[in-house]
Amino acid sequence: MLDRISMIFCSLLILVLALACSKPSNNSDSNPPMAQPTLHSQDSIANLPLTYATFLSQILQPRCLHCHNPQGTDSDAAQVLLFPYATLLKHKSWFPENIEQSKLIKMITRTDEYRMPPPEDGAPLSNEEIQFIRQWLLAGHPE
Ligand code: HEC
Repeated sequence: MLDRISMIFCSLLILVLALACSKPSNNSDSNPPMAQPTLHSQDSIANLPLTYATFLSQILQPRCLHCHNPQGTDSDAAQVLLFPYATLLKHKSWFPENIEQSKLIKMITRTDEYRMPPPEDGAPLSNEEIQFIRQWLLAGHPE
């Protein structure tokens, strides 16, 4: 009789322990899917502010400024300055009313050897990056 009671007691204890253990593990299972969208949205340029600061840090710095800067080895590229903001704005042909006429859009969407960045320098800008630049121009190229 005592054996039976202790067996029931033990089973109950195991059940309680199993329930107690399953709760935290459920929680940690649900954490990664919660964290992932946040990571992705930080990675995607489409979710960053539509500003020159984003354009500079996400596109110009990694893909353009090693050529387009006053110390650049290519003297032609060194004269086309993309930094700072006030200097970029001096390229009037980059900011026409119809943004598809923009020299900036034209240069990054070309498919020949005059594309920016130049083919020998690496891959073209991604569709998402080109879309960001379009949206930025449409928004009136905010700083
Ligand atoms: C490998 C070096 C190199 C890289 C990288 C590069 N460029 Fe250029 N870029 C040049 C050269 C060289 C020219 C030609 C300058 C000239 O003769 O007018 C040029 C010209 C341009 C022009 C035309 C300037 C004008 O108004 O006449 C634009 C716009 C431009 N680049 C944008 C970019 C952008 C945006 C990036 C980055 C996405 C980039 N470039 C990356 C070398 C480079």
